[in-house]
Amino acid sequence: MTKRIRKAVFPVAGLGTRFLPATKSVPKEMMTVVDRPVLQHVVDEAREAGIEHFIFITGRNKGVIEDHFDIAYELEETLQRRGKLKEWEALKADLPAAGATSFTRQQEPLGLGHAVWCAREIVGDEPFAVLLPDMVTMASEQGRCLAQCVDAYEKHGGNIIAVEEVASDETHQYGVVAIGKDSGHTFEITGMVEKPPKGTAPSNLIISGRYILGPEIFSILEKGEKGAGGEIQLTDGMKILAKSQSFHGVRFDGKTYDCGAKLGFLAANIAFGLANPNLAPLLLAELKKLTSGL
Ligand code: UTP
Repeated sequence: MTKRIRKAVFPVAGLGTRFLPATKSVPKEMMTVVDRPVLQHVVDEAREAGIEHFIFITGRNKGVIEDHFDIAYELEETLQRRGKLKEWEALKADLPAAGATSFTRQQEPLGLGHAVWCAREIVGDEPFAVLLPDMVTMASEQGRCLAQCVDAYEKHGGNIIAVEEVASDETHQYGVVAIGKDSGHTFEITGMVEKPPKGTAPSNLIISGRYILGPEIFSILEKGEKGAGGEIQLTDGMKILAKSQSFHGVRFDGKTYDCGAKLGFLAANIAFGLANPNLAPLLLAELKKLTSGL
């Protein structure tokens, strides 16, 4: 019998150097895909998967993230006074319940593994989800990515990683998994490697930013061993955990956009714009104008 996944960790302490100068004073997680901050899209995904407690690993200059998940008293009072009740209701619907968020600072961006380790006291002794906020997912008919991971966890237990297929010449930029018995949508993971040198990746399935992990990962990350890029890597911690616990992959059948990079961010804005019935016809007309004659 598996435990319920109630808590999710959102590491938001990275520097966002791929997106400078935009991220000099605005956290990259607060840049918008259409009209919602990237981070709000990811919190929505977690909520839909049944998450009840949202844990943000922040850093200096990330204070607006905390404000975003609080009541904006003056704004809300003004919206009500001006009769903009639809907008006010929408803000209220997005707001997590009081006490359902926790914020802790990573202090130094020592790597994703270190950021996740910073959540140890708040997570405690239960399995939990990790969502990388710059990876924004578009649901498939089967649902959103974390919900698919939770389904896989209920079936297999242990640890779950969402994966996505990329071209072989792109694998060196990501964490890559090796797979055992491939049974389609979910399968056993037999190995992992962070940023493998070109031509050495064990598959073209990359770790795409959604995980369900056992709390035993914390004592492994505690050792603070540095890996690729001199950072404390979550993938290295998971490799050690995989010696004693099972790992399954979920081949997410929707679409993932890396909003921490310029191209992924622009593609996400177009895809989510085209998925919005009010915007789609006008956006499509603009795109046709822009691309005619190219
Ligand atoms: P990235 O490597 O994509 O984030 O980490 P980054 O370091 O901000 O990006 P660049 O490469 O400089 O542009 C994936 C996620 O992990 C978080 C980031 O905020 C991002 O959401 N992270 C990374 C931390 O919270 N702490 C870290 O030390 C590193």
